[in-house]
Amino acid sequence: MGIHLKPVPIIDTAGSALASHVPTTMNKVNLSEKLALFSEHWHPHIVGELNGQHVKLAKIKGAFDWHHHAAEDELFLVVSGTMDLELRDQTVTLEEGEFFIVPRGVEHRPVAHEECHILLFEPASTRNTGNITNERTRNQLDRI
Ligand code: NI
Repeated sequence: MGIHLKPVPIIDTAGSALASHVPTTMNKVNLSEKLALFSEHWHPHIVGELNGQHVKLAKIKGAFDWHHHAAEDELFLVVSGTMDLELRDQTVTLEEGEFFIVPRGVEHRPVAHEECHILLFEPASTRNTGNITNERTRNQLDRI
C-alpha cells in the first residue's frame, strides 16, 4: 500500500486555516554567500521566514539609535566580528557565535566599533528602529 500525501490544513493559533501557506524555500542557506550580496550598514536583508518570524542578516558599524520594540523579542547572533549591545543598565559584548535575546520593551542600542555581521531572528512585524522613526528606519526589507 503506497503512501498518500494529502494536503493538511494548517491551523493558526486563532483557528483560521492558512490554506495558502507554502514554505518559502527548500534550499539550504549559506550565510557567507548571502552576506556577499550587500554592503550597506544597518540595512537588514531577509534570508528566511518561518512561523511568522524572519531570519535576517545585517552588516553594522558604528552606533545605532536607542529604541525598543513594544511587542517583539529580538535575537541578535554575531556571525563575524564583535558587537556591543548596550542596554540601559549594562553593556553586553557579543563575540562570533554568541547570541542575546532582547525582550520586548527593553531599550537597546547596538554598537560595532568595527564592521560586524549579525543574524537577527524576530517576528516579521519587527521594525529595525522599533519605536522611533528616522533616516535609518526600513519599512520594506529586501529578500535575498
Ligand atoms: Ni531592536
